[in-house]
Amino acid sequence: MISRLLLAIALLTTLQSISQKFEGLAMRPPMGWNSWNTFETKISEQLVKETADIMVSSGMRDAGYLYIVLDDGWMAKERDSISGDLVPDPVKFPGGMKALVDYVHAKGLKFGLYNCAGTKTCAGYPGTRGYEYQDARFYAKLGIDYLKYDWCNTDGITAREAYTTMSNAIKAARRPIVFSLCEWGTYQPWEWAKPVGHLWRTTGDIYPCFDCEFNHGTWSSWGVMRILDMRKNIRQYAGPDHWNDPDMMEVGNGMSEGEDRAHFSLWAMQAAPLIAGNDLRSMSKKTLDILTNKDVIAVDQDPLGIQGFSAGIRDSVETWFKPLTGGDWALCFLNRSSSPKALVADWAKMGLNDTVSSARFDPIATNYRMRNLWTGRAAGATSTVLRAIIPPHDVVLLRLYK
Ligand code: GLA
Repeated sequence: MISRLLLAIALLTTLQSISQKFEGLAMRPPMGWNSWNTFETKISEQLVKETADIMVSSGMRDAGYLYIVLDDGWMAKERDSISGDLVPDPVKFPGGMKALVDYVHAKGLKFGLYNCAGTKTCAGYPGTRGYEYQDARFYAKLGIDYLKYDWCNTDGITAREAYTTMSNAIKAARRPIVFSLCEWGTYQPWEWAKPVGHLWRTTGDIYPCFDCEFNHGTWSSWGVMRILDMRKNIRQYAGPDHWNDPDMMEVGNGMSEGEDRAHFSLWAMQAAPLIAGNDLRSMSKKTLDILTNKDVIAVDQDPLGIQGFSAGIRDSVETWFKPLTGGDWALCFLNRSSSPKALVADWAKMGLNDTVSSARFDPIATNYRMRNLWTGRAAGATSTVLRAIIPPHDVVLLRLYK
């Protein structure tokens, strides 16, 4: 009996010690760029090089965008018939993947790739199922830093096991790689993936509209407001090194400037990974200004890593709170309607306790000074009622200093 118990304990300890991700690789929400939202499988060596160049010359790298991630479509249709290794598409990447990874690294950036837990990726390229350890060694040899791991063609396997296996395979290959789970929140990864990965998708795919559903036939992708509303009550599962991921950004992909601002602000309020999904080579100055607003990025990247929350909606204006380091707060007033709305923030009535973080917003005890993070201007203090007009589908985003 006792020996059985000891055996069980030994087994559990072993299992635990092998099901640990590389710790500490994503103490702030990862920031970078991913090819999918704009290019889908139409990717190339040229695109990656140009994107990396602009990441540096535009100031995006210095603003914090580090990862360049190639999504689906980077592989040839078949594995190598002898070794079984994945084969980067020789037409799209004539110089080879290793040289491209080196190019990106030489720019002071990091490199990511995509694969899938199933037999094939969502776009029909070779999946990793049954090749987990081999593929992890392949990535380690290439020197990549980030792996997005999808969930198509996965009949007969369970998400927790499949993602744990890949996490263990990455660990065994001994190269620290940020592990991004992409099973769309189907099996509640926030409940089990903290030791497995560094971020996990919480929803289906995003679509570049403010508030729409785009029906693909058997599945839909979703506008920014739909994604925002899709998962309630999971903010307590997010924190440094383990983030909820409401999908890559659509800033610069066709929404209005106000909508892009709202999208970026709300991703920051959620402490979401900030993965740009636009064509950096042709982005406007306005798009770049949104993506590189340092004050808004600081809200997202705040070291406490507390995901913000909605405190309710009145007359189409939703109020979001995010506790920040040093007793500061970020407050975001989101106008969801298509007409301008008057904002009247009567601070004395807005105090609250955040039960998840125990942070207290107490404008009666504290006269917080305020800054409007989109105008960059001082916005008074909480001793005075704040009045503003919020344009349609736009935000007023404030940092309140203790
Ligand atoms: C899924 C993912 C997307 C993207 C595509 C690639 O839909 O959720 O983010 O990676 O697959 O095929």
